[in-house]
Amino acid sequence: MDKFIIKGGNTLSGEVEISSAKNAVLPIIAATILSGDKCTILNCPMLLDVYVICDVLRSLGAKVEIESKNSTVNIDTSNLSDNKPCGDLVRKMRGSFLIMGAMISRFGSFKISLPGGCNIGTRPIDLHLKGFKALGAKVKIDHGYVQVSAEKLIGDKIYLDYPSVGATENIIMASVLAKGETIIENVAQEPEIGDLINFLNKMGAKVKGIGTDTLKVTGVEYLHGAKHRPIYDRIEAGTFMIAAGITRSKMKINGINHEHIKPVIAKLSEMGMDIQLYNNGLIIDGRNELKPIDIKTMPYPGFPTDMQPQMMSLLSCVLGTSVVTETIFENRFMHIAELKRMGANIKIDGRSAVIEGINKLTGAQVKATDLRAGAALILAGLESDGETEIVDIYHIDRGYSGIEKKLGLLGAEIKRVKDSSLDEELKVKNQ
Ligand code: EPZ
Repeated sequence: MDKFIIKGGNTLSGEVEISSAKNAVLPIIAATILSGDKCTILNCPMLLDVYVICDVLRSLGAKVEIESKNSTVNIDTSNLSDNKPCGDLVRKMRGSFLIMGAMISRFGSFKISLPGGCNIGTRPIDLHLKGFKALGAKVKIDHGYVQVSAEKLIGDKIYLDYPSVGATENIIMASVLAKGETIIENVAQEPEIGDLINFLNKMGAKVKGIGTDTLKVTGVEYLHGAKHRPIYDRIEAGTFMIAAGITRSKMKINGINHEHIKPVIAKLSEMGMDIQLYNNGLIIDGRNELKPIDIKTMPYPGFPTDMQPQMMSLLSCVLGTSVVTETIFENRFMHIAELKRMGANIKIDGRSAVIEGINKLTGAQVKATDLRAGAALILAGLESDGETEIVDIYHIDRGYSGIEKKLGLLGAEIKRVKDSSLDEELKVKNQ
């Protein structure tokens, strides 16, 4: 098991390149199931979650070549079968449930291990299943598996009780080859969904309504292969913007769609950061005195929940009182206990956290409890006095490719080391 060792206190400078979006690439890789032709994903981020979903497709008979040198993934699902994918792989990453919609479109029936919850919440799939049923599928759940089957999926009208990102994506993929027209109302509008729709339309699908709360899908007979370069990762970009703020630095960030990251630009500007936009990037200056602010996470185009932990690290070292309210996930405050080990003064009050900013955090041994919590701890370590050690960083590798290299190039002192003590611990546990 690896861990990060960070020596805090450096200011950063220079420029960083943002990778393609994990949360766009995962549904796009799932969508390649819909065509028996070859698909190519360009500039694909080399992330643990990408490797896992590629292994899930391989366990179903797909041919997947990952050319990490040029960040290209070639997928051939011509020999795909509908036998059960490896349960361990599916349980390893909830995102694998995104193959369900595509699999029932292609094979009419599919059985997969129920996706588990994770540290940030129970992560239910009731809205996914509601959509499949509305399209005429039968759903059976037993012994920890969910089986969805339909002779033929028939287009219909579906209202999503909540604008769930995954449910929107799964239902789109279940409707693109369905008979007739499907109207999906109250959909999620995250940019990653628009990118999935653009990929599907390149494959010959007919999906209209990107950026609105209602999608109209006209079913087609067949989808052909396509080549696609996914959108930039707005959460990685936001994470580096906060790195500039927390280290009181000025830096250039290349690979940004300004529209996609508007809520983060708005809140960091409100705090006093100077942000100059230019095409596909921005220059951000965090050297001014920053002011405390209140944050409330909302579905897009509100402030993204995936930026909440990182923002909390920043607010922990901005003098004054800030309030962070998490409305999307019921348990996305796991990073608070770790930040408090670093001296942060945070009190949880239901879905809100009240932060009394302090001058300086102090380095400590902390644990990444989930992907964005891990990113938040890296940011806190960059600012802290002394050394911070972060274990369980496999969570971070799920969503950030080479974050320590990118930060190192900006002047941060962060290194990845093997944590043999943890390996010993694991060995003992597994005896
Ligand atoms: C996606 O998860 C992202 N993951 C998450 O990013 C992101 O935090 C989330 O959307 C919200 O933006 C991927 O795209 C792979 P949801 P998803 O369905 O689809 C409730 C990261 O850090 N809900 O929009 O699982 C659910 O309980 C990850 O990159 C239902 O009630 O999110 C939650 O409270 C973390 N029933 C809320 O909706 C359902 O059937 C939002 O979940 C589905 C969801």
